[in-house]
Amino acid sequence: MPAIRLRPANQDDIDLLLRYRNDTQTRAASRNQEPVDKHEHSQWLSQTLMRKDRRLIIGEIDGLPVGTARLDIREDQSIEVSWTVAPEMRGQGIGHQLVKQVVSELSGKIVACIRRDNLASQKIALATGFQLAETGLTSEKNDAILRYELHSAETQPGKNVPPA
Ligand SMILES: CC(C)(COP(=O)(O)OP(=O)(O)OC[C@H]1O[C@@H](n2cnc3c(N)ncnc32)[C@H](O)[C@@H]1OP(=O)(O)O)[C@@H](O)C(=O)NCCC(=O)NCCS
Repeated sequence: MPAIRLRPANQDDIDLLLRYRNDTQTRAASRNQEPVDKHEHSQWLSQTLMRKDRRLIIGEIDGLPVGTARLDIREDQSIEVSWTVAPEMRGQGIGHQLVKQVVSELSGKIVACIRRDNLASQKIALATGFQLAETGLTSEKNDAILRYELHSAETQPGKNVPPA
């Protein structure tokens, strides 16, 4: 598979990201499973692009978007990473490669919160080097969410987070 090019998301990605967000599988994997409308999504995207503690990344192969990843810098300076592969590109190993590339640019403690029934993402996390945290199971709105952690060799948190 060709390398995935990572770039910061911008306002022009609004339709792409809305399509990913409202995809059935994405919603099933999300904390908030309700579909969002374009107005709400537009506000979310504008705020996200301004936030200093969040980075939204688009992965592209040959100039075509294949997925997205979001990085949230948490209070303890760990980075929570979440990901979505374009619905039409799933099942080809892109999830594995996207997450591997995103994580390779980070340092410090990296966290991924994955629903218990999301086996594909658990496989991706484990293959990337994440381990189920000791206190792995949390419960949000009665949904079981597993917390995976990866401790990068580098100690400076978020050093290589791509700029917005
Ligand atoms: C989950 C998701 C990221 C997987 O992306 P993908 O590009 O299709 O995944 P890959 O092709 O890299 O496959 C990953 C692994 O999961 C396996 N897999 C794929 N779909 C699966 C399923 N429904 N059940 C179990 N395993 C599955 C693949 O066989 C592969 O296994 P392997 O490691 O043994 O080779 C993608 O389906 C997606 O974006 N889903 C909606 C959003 C989401 O779940 N985000 C994650 C939130 S933490």
